Amino acid sequence: MKTLPEPLINWLDSALSAAKSVDSSRPLVTLSYAQSLDGSIAARQGKALTLSGKASFRMTHYLRSIHDAILVGIGTVLADNPQLTVREVDGDNPRPVVLDSALRTPLDARLFAQTPMPWVFTADLDGKDVSYLETQGAEVLQVDQDEAGFLRLDEILLRLGERGIHTLMVEGGAQIIQAFLSQGLADQLILTVSPSFVGGYKAVDALIESEFPQVQEPQITLLENDIIVWGALS
Ligand SMILES: NC(=O)c1ccc[n+]([C@@H]2O[C@H](COP(=O)([O-])OP(=O)(O)OC[C@H]3O[C@@H](n4cnc5c(N)ncnc54)[C@H](OP(=O)(O)O)[C@@H]3O)[C@@H](O)[C@H]2O)c1
Repeated sequence: MKTLPEPLINWLDSALSAAKSVDSSRPLVTLSYAQSLDGSIAARQGKALTLSGKASFRMTHYLRSIHDAILVGIGTVLADNPQLTVREVDGDNPRPVVLDSALRTPLDARLFAQTPMPWVFTADLDGKDVSYLETQGAEVLQVDQDEAGFLRLDEILLRLGERGIHTLMVEGGAQIIQAFLSQGLADQLILTVSPSFVGGYKAVDALIESEFPQVQEPQITLLENDIIVWGALS
């Protein structure tokens, strides 16, 4: 992809091909989202806000195209109704993965308008009718909840590994970003920083429970007017 910086392409290629060749029980996790200079990912929780410029938008589609699956929380499905496709670039759409304990994924979600069909992780299935999602083509997978009532991410990653997902892009929203960072489950970061102030809904607004995650040997480049920061997380 012409607009993507060569060092980022090379770094990603080697990280992702290593993940595909290693026999790991869980996928390599790339956290990738867009924020303003003050760390906002939306003006208000539940409202969509376009932060990236055109080139960064295309970069996101390229990143999707080189991952096996893409994960979002139900908050993002409800707010943005994303397609999670690679329509701006050549390549295959990744498998959409939605975390949705209470099965709030709407039947008219745009995720159902393309392939592959989403995998929806949820909590207790007892007494719940999932046929409405399954007839749309989704697969509903049950996992345990943690003490806070959220779906267990470690279990989800293992289930994805069992299903042949070697590389997972995590796009958001804030609660999902916070959860992956807090639990030390994000392996690498590709962050788009738009040169704007929003004063809105922050990607991270609570204390991170694990050691403060750090980008190792951070790389920075300008993509049109956006600042792209990337590197492995530890
Ligand atoms: N700028 C960007 O790059 C970007 C990207 C994506 C989204 N966004 C924005 O972010 C906002 C949505 O973010 P959000 O924080 O409201 O929602 P979210 O992070 O998309 O989804 C959070 C929901 O996911 C479910 N969930 C299940 N297991 C979880 C776990 N282990 N950890 C965390 N959540 C879990 C929970 O709902 P249940 O309890 O019902 O399961 C939770 O409320 C929207 O305004 C959207 O526009 C921005």
